[in-house]
Amino acid sequence: MPAKATSKRPVRRSAPAAAAPVGVVHVTRQVHFNAAHRLYNPRFGRRWNERTYGPCANPHWHGHNYVLEATVKGTPDPDTGFVINLGELKAILIKAVVEPCDHRNLNVEVAFLRDVIPTAENLAVAFWARIEHLLGPGRLHRVRLYETPRNCAEYLGPNA
Ligand code: NI
Repeated sequence: MPAKATSKRPVRRSAPAAAAPVGVVHVTRQVHFNAAHRLYNPRFGRRWNERTYGPCANPHWHGHNYVLEATVKGTPDPDTGFVINLGELKAILIKAVVEPCDHRNLNVEVAFLRDVIPTAENLAVAFWARIEHLLGPGRLHRVRLYETPRNCAEYLGPNA
């Protein structure tokens, strides 16, 4: 029995284009968590806190549905085409932020937020450090934390 022909016609491949220089690409992953907090600066009195933070100074706490976005920068790996595997980035965000913060009271239950007034700004800075620690230096571009769909704080690191 004759061997099956592998190919009748040669596949035509056009010559590869000259490799264009590849710049930095940003890749973003989003995660969600729910948490309670209160904005209150113990260095000031009740009046100052109520005037500054309004209902967010409520001593009985309130909650937010937080949305956290982390953006990683880099050039795509020539083998995978990825700046970072998004599954890996998701796992980092869950370990750094979601596991310690989800369904917690940020003022009293989260060790790395002790003595931090949990505004979106301060949380973004605190989360940056934890995410970068797991990601390695020089890769994190931005942390953006939505406290509501209309309010977010964005942090680009200590050197930005
Ligand atoms: Ni709040």
